[in-house]
Amino acid sequence: MDKPKKLFVKTYGCQMNVYDSERMAEALGASGYVETASPEDADMILLNTCHIREKAAEKVYSELGRFKGLKAARPDLKIGVAGCVAQAEGAEIMRRQPLVDLVVGPQSYHRLPQMEARLRRGEKALDTDFPEEDKFAHLAERPRARRAPAAFLTVQEGCDKFCAFCVVPYTRGAEVSRPAARVLDEARDLVDRGVREITLLGQNVNAYHGEGADGDWSLARLIRELAGIEGLARIRYTTSHPNDMTDDLIAAHGDCDKLMPYLHLPVQAGSDRILKRMNRAHTAESYVRLIERIRAARPDILISGDFIVGFPEETEADFQATLDLIETVNYGSAFSFKYSTRPGTPAAERDQVPEDVKSDRLHRLQALLSRQQHAAQEAMVGRTVGVLFEKPGRLPGQMVGKSDHLHAVHVVDDRAAIGDLVPVRITAASAHSLAGERV
Ligand code: 5AD
Ligand code: SF4
Repeated sequence: MDKPKKLFVKTYGCQMNVYDSERMAEALGASGYVETASPEDADMILLNTCHIREKAAEKVYSELGRFKGLKAARPDLKIGVAGCVAQAEGAEIMRRQPLVDLVVGPQSYHRLPQMEARLRRGEKALDTDFPEEDKFAHLAERPRARRAPAAFLTVQEGCDKFCAFCVVPYTRGAEVSRPAARVLDEARDLVDRGVREITLLGQNVNAYHGEGADGDWSLARLIRELAGIEGLARIRYTTSHPNDMTDDLIAAHGDCDKLMPYLHLPVQAGSDRILKRMNRAHTAESYVRLIERIRAARPDILISGDFIVGFPEETEADFQATLDLIETVNYGSAFSFKYSTRPGTPAAERDQVPEDVKSDRLHRLQALLSRQQHAAQEAMVGRTVGVLFEKPGRLPGQMVGKSDHLHAVHVVDDRAAIGDLVPVRITAASAHSLAGERV
């Protein structure tokens, strides 16, 4: 048999990309590749790119430029670009950077083995179509290796919301849900391989409407069905849009024990004028009412969010409305960004807020959010929560895992093994994690 070839994958961006990188490595496994941690000894380098941040494409080009030396030393080295920058730039990548052999968009990963065969024939390969098929169905013939106890599972991709700042509807395309039977099969397979927690992924995951045994299933229906899988202990999902938080999904937070008390529900801004300009189709008030209903169903749920400061035309009063909303909601964790233009999106054409104003607002916003985050961590002290151990800690006999509320928790416990889900009493909170003892 041929000596295995080595694949180096570098992943940028979201959890969806982390998941996709794993699937790509598995697909190329069928073509004889094993993963390596260093680009220097790789036969193929794959950059799985993200387009959500500013100048994403420029950063990819400069990263590619750094492989020039490697490629000159080993002309057989193959270099590929995947992900959202590949989708957005397409053939332009090969024109601007001739050392690139392969460009593959997020909807075409199942075609990687055929594309790799073309590379072996000395050709270049480009695929940025949006095909009808379920790309993951074709990626299913993977080695049945043991998996870490917490895994991601993509159930939905793309987005039809067209927020005025966002490239996702252009790079990931229209919203598509995977059939429920496929998702359930993949979940059972993961559980057979040692997985105890599954996070359902989608750019707009709560818009899920996959074909089920009796018509389309909602995300809530899918979660209830997944909860029936023996051995699966925890279910999470991300990322959600407020307008798709349906009654059945809220109810599931109240009565489905396996659905964890953590919800990432981005609001982006707190001013109705800005929300309207963002094309968010909800108001600050409707979002706050929604959070109240979710908390009524599951009082201890930890709410997380995304915020953009300095969206075009944002005034100090608009920004203040965002701070007010944050005060009202009280977030347990959050991600916040300065608005940055994405060519081709509507907001890119509008009056921009000066950079120093954006920086100042981001600073104030993050100060408030981190106060709330620390308060949420402090509030855990004295409580007993479930912790799923994921890896050994740095100290002897120490384990690190995630709590039900997605806090990292350190526990000293000689008996513990990776994959154990145990009750832990939280004894202390530090900047980024909690400490506790098994009860
Ligand atoms: N500028 C700043 N932040 C953005 N996000 C998406 N597009 C932009 C942009 N153009 C943020 C949003 C989204 C998160 C994934 O990234 O807050 O929820
Ligand atoms: Fe982008 Fe999310 Fe808005 Fe869709 S809902 S356009 S993914 S920010």
